[in-house]
Amino acid sequence: MKSHEMKDEGQGDLNVPRRNLLVGAGALAAGMLLTKAGGLLGTAQAKAQAITETWPWPYVKLDPDETAELAYNEWYRVYCGAGVFSSIFSQLREKVGEPYTLIPIDAFIFLEGGMVGWGTICGSNAGANLVTNMIIGPRTAGSDDGMLMGSEIMQWYSDTQLPTYKPKNPRISAEIPTTISNSPLCHVSVGRWMKATGKHLGSDERRDRCARVTASVAHQTVTLLNQWHDGKYRTKGTIPAASYGIQTQHNCTSCHGSNVPMPPMAKR
Ligand code: HEC
Repeated sequence: MKSHEMKDEGQGDLNVPRRNLLVGAGALAAGMLLTKAGGLLGTAQAKAQAITETWPWPYVKLDPDETAELAYNEWYRVYCGAGVFSSIFSQLREKVGEPYTLIPIDAFIFLEGGMVGWGTICGSNAGANLVTNMIIGPRTAGSDDGMLMGSEIMQWYSDTQLPTYKPKNPRISAEIPTTISNSPLCHVSVGRWMKATGKHLGSDERRDRCARVTASVAHQTVTLLNQWHDGKYRTKGTIPAASYGIQTQHNCTSCHGSNVPMPPMAKR
């Protein structure tokens, strides 16, 4: 209870019970200070919220190739998820300022390796979804485009020979073969590529491959965002759960083999 009260300090009306407690204790000066501090914090919070939670965010068109090159190099610092995020947000911090300056970039390093090395969603897909949902906005803000653009990018990622992007200044000279993952998962995407090439996880080639995949996804994301900015974006994104009756990817057989189970269906 105590720690909960502490956490609520400064959050506008949540201060009221605490202030009453203090008045009860006869600490008039402390009570005023708290009121003042609470008021100030409340205003700052309201301001930050008005800036970050008003959608869509201001966006200026970015160059997809420049963005991809930034993402490629950022992979070597913060890996796939934060790499996509950084390549776009670092430019918008400079060209637009707030709200982009109010959001951390490096914190998203945890998306690496399909989130902390668990091989779930490829971080570059997660980074792209963060970007579209922050710039276009979440579906609670009135448009489904942010969500559906994220889904469209995952579909594109699954269907495309990756990487598509060849860096202007590659860090290694070896040819990097391309593969189709059929899946937005890190585990499957990296695994299929390693099977096709025989290169191990720590090899320079695998590392550069993932840097180029990150660059490819950043390129695709900015291409779609630019269309959206021009009012020309018509989404190809869908929500698989809506048609299969279970949250899923489309490639059922790659995990279930020929015996794909059917989820219980709601009666219509
Ligand atoms: C990335 C791998 C993967 C993909 C792709 C996948 N599944 Fe699954 N699915 C699983 C695993 C693992 C389980 C758990 C199986 C278990 O516990 O026996 C599961 C469970 C299920 C279940 C719960 C019932 C059961 O028999 O386990 C259903 C229904 C199901 N999947 C349907 C589908 C359908 C339909 C698709 C394609 C639209 C699909 N899955 C795609 C891995 C996958």
